Amino acid sequence: MNKFESHFNGWLRPWQSQLCDACGDAMQDGIAPLSGPELDGANKSLNNLYADTSSGWACAGGDCDYSLPGTGPLYTGHWHGKRVHDGLSVLLPLLPVLSARPVCVIDIGAGTGAALWAWTLLARCAQEWGSPLPVHSWYSIDCSQRMLKQSDRLWGKLCRVLPNAPELVNRQPAALCDWRNHPPLPTGALVVGSYLFARADLTNPAATAAAFVAFLTRLTASGVVLWTKPNKCAVQDGVKTQLVGWIDRTPLKLFDCALQGQMRKCLSVAQAKFVEVNLPRDPEWNKRLNWGCAPTKVARLAMTR
Ligand SMILES: C[S@@+](CC[C@H](N)C(=O)[O-])C[C@H]1O[C@@H](n2cnc3c(N)ncnc32)[C@H](O)[C@@H]1O
Repeated sequence: MNKFESHFNGWLRPWQSQLCDACGDAMQDGIAPLSGPELDGANKSLNNLYADTSSGWACAGGDCDYSLPGTGPLYTGHWHGKRVHDGLSVLLPLLPVLSARPVCVIDIGAGTGAALWAWTLLARCAQEWGSPLPVHSWYSIDCSQRMLKQSDRLWGKLCRVLPNAPELVNRQPAALCDWRNHPPLPTGALVVGSYLFARADLTNPAATAAAFVAFLTRLTASGVVLWTKPNKCAVQDGVKTQLVGWIDRTPLKLFDCALQGQMRKCLSVAQAKFVEVNLPRDPEWNKRLNWGCAPTKVARLAMTR
């Protein structure tokens, strides 16, 4: 760990419970109007992303249906925390690139905005450390309105914890679209994709990779950073063969960092709501609603330049 990284871990610790509460509050707002069947459907769909094996968890499940009403709110407990961890693991080693000058970052399949949370935490810590990071313009695109809505809720809660967050990163209005068919986006941007490609995209990974490279080329992207689980790397592997200057990196593992542990407020909010709508509590939540202990691994980090 370099100096900033170890400082960052110590800096993050006192924020843990407030960030936990922020996630729980955003979940609460999102699930409040939902019915039992909506929550049950979303929870089952999210559970598709897990699969139990004798050695722990693996990703042998199917895709989640991100169009379901409860998916955004419940994703907050199931995955947002873990994805913030993963985002930190990827973005920390990229600081030399990301601290050079302000850039546009386009987060494809941004979901609940975990990568933006991660960047904002790093930027706030760097500011307090006396080494402020450039204010990047952050664009999020996603084809799920439910996920983008939850991203707005989560950003609002993060801004309560870190009131100067909007000064640390220039968050642009999100675009509801598929990356294959998108509105105008800035050229020369750094494109990031955290767990973007779905199982359906892996049916023909070469075709998905070719389409994604064409998308990057159209945008004249200055770089691309993709990370996912090791068993979902087929599209990334295809993209890699078509780009010059790809570097595979093993990101830092920050799973022992200060955020580790259960997302207690998400757990209690989800439990209370399930009782309210007469659904049985999901026995898996105790281990699943956490900040990053689960064995999801960041697989690849790549830059075209
Ligand atoms: C597994 S989630 C990851 C969300 C977020 N990046 C994270 O790390 O938490 C995948 C997200 O990608 C979005 N998505 C999947 N395929 C997409 C596409 N072709 N265009 C835009 N968004 C897509 C989904 O709606 C979902 O929000």
